[in-house]
Amino acid sequence: MNFFDLFKNKKSYMCPLMNNHLHFSCRDALEPCCSANIGPAFIKNLSKIDSIKNFVEEKKKYIKLLKDGKIPEECKNCVHLTTYKKTNDFRINKITLNHYTQCNCACIYCTQGNRTIEKIKEDANKPVLFDVLKFINELYDNDLIDKEKLYIDFQGGNISCLKNHEEIINTFLNRGVGTIYIPTNNIVYMPIIEKLLRIKKGELCTALDSGCRETYLKIKQVDKFDKSVENIKRYIASAGNDSIIIKYIIVNGYNDNIEEFKMFMNKMIELNVKIIVLDIDYRDIIDGAFKIPQNYYDILDYAKETCKTNNIDLGIPPYTQQVFDRGYSCK
Ligand SMILES: C[S@@+](CC[C@H](N)C(=O)[O-])C[C@H]1O[C@@H](n2cnc3c(N)ncnc32)[C@H](O)[C@@H]1O
Ligand code: SF4
Ligand code: SF4
Repeated sequence: MNFFDLFKNKKSYMCPLMNNHLHFSCRDALEPCCSANIGPAFIKNLSKIDSIKNFVEEKKKYIKLLKDGKIPEECKNCVHLTTYKKTNDFRINKITLNHYTQCNCACIYCTQGNRTIEKIKEDANKPVLFDVLKFINELYDNDLIDKEKLYIDFQGGNISCLKNHEEIINTFLNRGVGTIYIPTNNIVYMPIIEKLLRIKKGELCTALDSGCRETYLKIKQVDKFDKSVENIKRYIASAGNDSIIIKYIIVNGYNDNIEEFKMFMNKMIELNVKIIVLDIDYRDIIDGAFKIPQNYYDILDYAKETCKTNNIDLGIPPYTQQVFDRGYSCK
């Protein structure tokens, strides 16, 4: 065996999220990703520190491990791993803000813990875990951000319940950002979102999940269907419909009937919404052994047909499409 044969079968890996993403997590940690895998943490206990400078060293360690073919335990079997490609691009181009869980509704499917109306009232008074703004400023001060590409994803609870959201958004706008993505239940109208939409820096996504008040109330546990619809109308009137995405998450036994979906589609057409996303409740996708019933396919077919006729973009997340194609969810 010659010297080069020693390396012939050795694989080198990389992860684009490890290279370029940051996730401020409600586990009080700074992580490279917010994948279904709970990936590694660069830094834990953010609430107890003032600087995240050390994350660069940690990141280098993980990148080297992958390059050397040693997959960290937390990354094993992750779909984001790819074979190594040389790059000099390590600046941050996506930040996910997920450091808060406060919300003003209680979707029965929410992945942010078991939501009840009592619990959301309790949570509303709890302080956020840590001041994310000082860390964001530190990233800019140290030239660690790709300002043009930077994509911000507000996850968390709901942005309207994050007290300093305006200050955070204005910091990004002042210091350089590409796009700010705002998923929101849309119960509260927010002038800062209107501003982002108007200056073409923002995208709003709201999961309405229903076509009437009664179903909305069952799913979200608050009677705010009319308010949410009114807010969609206001944003479209003031900033256009280019960057407004309305989602329908099919929830087993709640809104999985074609009549409900038809009412939803009629509302979308009336509001002049141009982007719709159809999803399936993650709990059914992840839990496994869920056979997709015919009524889900009826909704899918109706969505395709009606969107085509009305010139509406229909988005189906790749994992949901796979489940539709396969006919069942499995791990
Ligand atoms: C946890 S929420 C936070 C943002 C905001 N409160 C909202 O609901 O849009 C983030 C995203 O996850 C989606 N989501 C939460 N639980 C889900 C589930 N079980 N199935 C599918 N999507 C879910 C929500 O619709 C939302 O788009
Ligand atoms: S390989 Fe997966 S778990 Fe590891 S950092 Fe990348 S996305 Fe996260
Ligand atoms: S609005 Fe978002 S954070 Fe609030 S309960 Fe629903 S999915 Fe969860």
